[in-house]
Amino acid sequence: MKQKVLILNGPNLNLLGRRHPEIYGHATLDDIIAGLCMTFPDLVIDHFQSNHEGELIDRIHQVGFDPDYAGIVLNAGAYTHTSLALADAIAAVPLPVVEVHLSNIFAREEIRRRSLIAPVCRGSVSGFGSKSYELAVRALL
Ligand code: DQA
Repeated sequence: MKQKVLILNGPNLNLLGRRHPEIYGHATLDDIIAGLCMTFPDLVIDHFQSNHEGELIDRIHQVGFDPDYAGIVLNAGAYTHTSLALADAIAAVPLPVVEVHLSNIFAREEIRRRSLIAPVCRGSVSGFGSKSYELAVRALL
């Protein structure tokens, strides 16, 4: 059976392609998922986006104990900088989570330089546009 990876995207990432393309690029979320499916034909690329913190937490709980998954690639959007609840959910499950950001959060406003989820993630990839997702998936294999 093919191994699965969950690509989990948080608030406002449904607007990719239309939202600040000078920062986040022109690719839509569908483009990014389609690119991952092409690059990783031997994986099942499961994906979910929500603008609601609790829904992201529910999804982490759902797959976080599932041995069919190699891990979760998480772009938590602005929840990265604010959500202790999301950090607790990541810490509560055995599945590795890789934090991703399209932009280089360390080169942006002060508030974006702090990630509450980084200490509980396996690692972080930040600043490579849609390639950040590809690098994060590779890190899980
Ligand atoms: C982001 C960076 C966050 O600071 C921001 O709130 C986002 C996107 C990124 O992918 O660069 O929504 O996670």
